[in-house]
Amino acid sequence: MNSASGCSRLEAEVARIIGGIGTSHIPAIGLAMAKNQYRDPYWKPFFDAYQPVRAWLGETRPTVAVVVYNDHGLNFFLDKMPTFAVGAATEYCNADEGWGLPTQRPFPGNAAMSWHLIEQLAAADFDLTTCQEMFVDHGFVVPMQLLWPDAPSWPVRTIPIHVNTVQHPLPSPARCLKFGEVLGRAIESWPANERVVVLGTGGLSHQLDGRRAGFINKPFDLYCLEKIVHEPELLARYSIRDLIEFAGTQGPELIQWLIMRGALGADVRKLESNYHVPISNTGSGLLLLEKAA
Ligand code: DHB
Ligand code: FE
Repeated sequence: MNSASGCSRLEAEVARIIGGIGTSHIPAIGLAMAKNQYRDPYWKPFFDAYQPVRAWLGETRPTVAVVVYNDHGLNFFLDKMPTFAVGAATEYCNADEGWGLPTQRPFPGNAAMSWHLIEQLAAADFDLTTCQEMFVDHGFVVPMQLLWPDAPSWPVRTIPIHVNTVQHPLPSPARCLKFGEVLGRAIESWPANERVVVLGTGGLSHQLDGRRAGFINKPFDLYCLEKIVHEPELLARYSIRDLIEFAGTQGPELIQWLIMRGALGADVRKLESNYHVPISNTGSGLLLLEKAA
């Protein structure tokens, strides 16, 4: 290293987003993993689609995962439901939610980076709940297990971001896309040499109860999977009511995918995309986007 490179190394030391992953988070996936049903005919097409995504993670080796998900009642309940909540802890614990899922070992956090993201988001007028203690539910845990199933310890530090999709009113898709854009710039202004992957979990179409329980809209899901790559603003035009009509009462979980997509910026390349239906009551989507250099 020559004398000048000391300075340039310091200048270069900001976090970089390497890509984003949209994935289903349904608890049945966690149960199938616990039962080692990877080759079961019902599950094989679903799990096989994650192989190339895991290979990409193995090659790109992210150091931080920003996980955008919705808490379903483990950490927040209907009595207190923040619109956006950001974890700022050194560790996040999982706990029994009643699905019969084995409780996962704690996930390491990156509290200093969390506070940077919180400050940047607040400066852009996003009013946040900050959580120095936070339990993470299946919306966070199932994707982490899916992406790093064999890791002896979690290979990334995590920053959980909860988005309310449970207690109306929910944040609009347009606001979530904007949240993602600010989040992306915040990540890439964090002065540390981190490689960051952003996860958006949930969806796609599903309705777990009520008159249309079991409702799945495959054409709409495929439309979302296609358009979110290069035209996410088309999806951001929908209202929450539209998403409920087209994708069921839990269909608004798509807003987590929109935050992930917003964080990646304009130039992305689609590396993998998969749709598998039905898993449980849900049209399950998978998308791997690489951020253009
Ligand atoms: C299911 C889907 C979800 O998004 C969820 O949070 C819980 C259950 C399901 O399809 O069973
Ligand atoms: Fe969910």
